[in-house]
Amino acid sequence: MSDKKKFRSSEWYSSKTHKRDTFVHRGWMRNQGHPSHLFDGRPVIGICNTWSELTPCNGHFREIAESVRRGVYEAGGFPLEFPVFSASESNLRPTAMLFRNLASMDVEEAIRGNPIDGVVLLMGCDKTTPSLLMGAASVDIPTIGVSGGPMLNGHHKGETIGSGTGLWQLDADLSAGKINEEDFVEAEISMSRSKGNCMTMGTASTMGSMVEALGMALPHNAAIPAVDARRYSLAHMSGKRIVEMVKENLIMSKVVSKSSFENAIKVNGAIGGSTNAVIHLAAVAGRLEIDLSLNDWERCGNDIPTLVNLQPSGSYLMEDFYYAGGVPAVIKKLLDKNLLDKNALTVNGKTIEENNKNAECWNTDVIKDFESPLVHSGGIKILKGNIAPDGAILKPSAASPELMSHKGKAVVFESIEEFHDKIDDPNLDVDENSILVLKNCGPKGYPGMAEVGNMRLPKKILKKGIRDMIRISDARMSGTAFGTVILHTSPEAAVKGPLAAVQNGDLIEVDVENGKLHLDVTDEIISERLSVYQPILPDIKGGYQKMYIDHVMQADKGADLDFLVGKRGSEVKRHSH
Ligand code: FES
Repeated sequence: MSDKKKFRSSEWYSSKTHKRDTFVHRGWMRNQGHPSHLFDGRPVIGICNTWSELTPCNGHFREIAESVRRGVYEAGGFPLEFPVFSASESNLRPTAMLFRNLASMDVEEAIRGNPIDGVVLLMGCDKTTPSLLMGAASVDIPTIGVSGGPMLNGHHKGETIGSGTGLWQLDADLSAGKINEEDFVEAEISMSRSKGNCMTMGTASTMGSMVEALGMALPHNAAIPAVDARRYSLAHMSGKRIVEMVKENLIMSKVVSKSSFENAIKVNGAIGGSTNAVIHLAAVAGRLEIDLSLNDWERCGNDIPTLVNLQPSGSYLMEDFYYAGGVPAVIKKLLDKNLLDKNALTVNGKTIEENNKNAECWNTDVIKDFESPLVHSGGIKILKGNIAPDGAILKPSAASPELMSHKGKAVVFESIEEFHDKIDDPNLDVDENSILVLKNCGPKGYPGMAEVGNMRLPKKILKKGIRDMIRISDARMSGTAFGTVILHTSPEAAVKGPLAAVQNGDLIEVDVENGKLHLDVTDEIISERLSVYQPILPDIKGGYQKMYIDHVMQADKGADLDFLVGKRGSEVKRHSH
C-alpha cells in the first residue's frame, strides 16, 4: 500500500472496489474545475471557516483562507474550504455562548462526514475559537489553529481606546454626563478601525493565546494584527504544516495533553487573560477526555504574576503586545522560571521550549519582568463557600485591590430584567459598600450564561466618582471588562444553587486571598429559602434552545452539553450511492 492510500479521504476518492461511489464523490467535486490528479490520494485539507459578514471580527477570513490554501498546495495537499456556524459576539442574541455548543456540533459532524484528512481551524471572535477546538477534538484528526488576529489599536480624540474596555468607560462617562451622545457614536469607528477581533486582552485574544499555549498553533498566532502581512504568512505556513501533520498522523490528542492545559492556565495568568478561558478550556479538555477542573486553575494559576500590561487589566493593546514580543516572549519568561512543562508538544512537531527559547521581549513596559509585574498574584482566583459550593471565579488583575477583602450588604436582582428596571431607581437601597447580586443568568437560567456579570453601577454611585463595587452572579463577563466581579457561581440559581437563597440585606463576606465567598446566613435558613425558591426560567418554545437547557452542564464543568463530552473519532460508515 502506498503512503497516499492510508489517508481517510481515500475512502471517498480512491476506492478500487466501490467505483460507482468514487465516481459520485470525485465527479461532483470536479464541477468546480478540479483536475483529476488532485484526487490521487494526496492529503485533503479542510479549511474550516467561520467567515461571516454577521461576525465582523471574522470578516477577513476568506483572505486568510486563501493564504492557507496556498500553503496546502505548496506542500502537495488538496485544500477544500468549508463554512461552519459562526457565533458573533457583537450581534448574536440572546448571547453567542448559547450557540458555542451548537457550532461545535456543526464542526464535528462536518469534519467527520467529509473526506478530510487534516483540518485548519480559522478562529477569531470569542466563541469561534472554543467551538472549533471542541468540535475538532471530538473527531481527533490532525488539526492546526489559525486565529484571525486583533484589530489595530483604537484611536479617538487623541486617546488610545480598546475594544470593549473603551466602551465600558465611554458608557460610564455618558451615564455620568461627562460626554454627550455625539461623542459616544463617533467613537464607534475610532475603536474598530481595521479588520480583526477585539484588540484588548479580551476573550478572543485570550483564546488566540490559549491556542498558542496549548501548542495548537504556530508561534505568534495570537498577537499579529489582522492586517499585518505576517498574519497571512503564518496562515500560509499553517497550510503547509497541516499537510506534514497528516503524513505524520499527528492528531490533536497527540499534541494536547494535561500538561498543555496546565501550561495554558499559567500563560493565561501571565497575560491577564479572560475569565472565559476557564469555561472554554474545561469544555475543550472534556472533549479530549482530559480531566481539568477549577482545582487545576487554583493549583497551577494561583501564584502566576500578570506580566502583560494590556487592557482591561493594564494600559496597552494587542498591537503593542505583538511588537513587544507577543505570546512567545511571555512563554520564554515562564520557561526561564521553570513554570511550564517545557516538553509539551506543539503542532509544528517541536516542544514549547524549542519554539520559544529564543523569543525576545522588546518592551518591558508592555511585557513586564517577573521582578516588577503588573499584578503579583494574577491568574484566576477560585472562590468557594456556602453561596458557591462548586466554585466561582474572579480575575484579580482586573479587580480593585481594596475590595479583595470586603463584607457588604447584598442588593439582589432576581433577573437581568429586574436589574435593568431597578439599578437607577433613586430609591434603591445601595451604597458603594453594597454587593450587587444577580441571579438566573447561568447556563440554564439566561439561557446561555450571558456576559452580564459586570453589572453597571447605579448612576447615583457613578456620580460620586466611584467606578467599582463587588458584583456576584452566575453569569459570565466580557473578557474586555474590568472590576471586582465574581462570576460563574456554581451551581446556578436556576437549578436552585445556594446563590438563589441570597436576599436583600444579607451580609456577604468576600476574601479573595483565602478563596472564600460566604453568605452570613445559617445552613438551615439557606435550605428553608431554597425549598420555596421559584427560579425565573426562560420561556423556551423548543428547538435547539430546549435541547440546550435540558443538557447543558454547569459552569465549573465547561457548560458543554452532557452528551457531547468526549471523543467520538473520525470513523464514518460508508455511504453507498
Ligand atoms: Fe468579536 Fe470581541 S466582538 S472579538
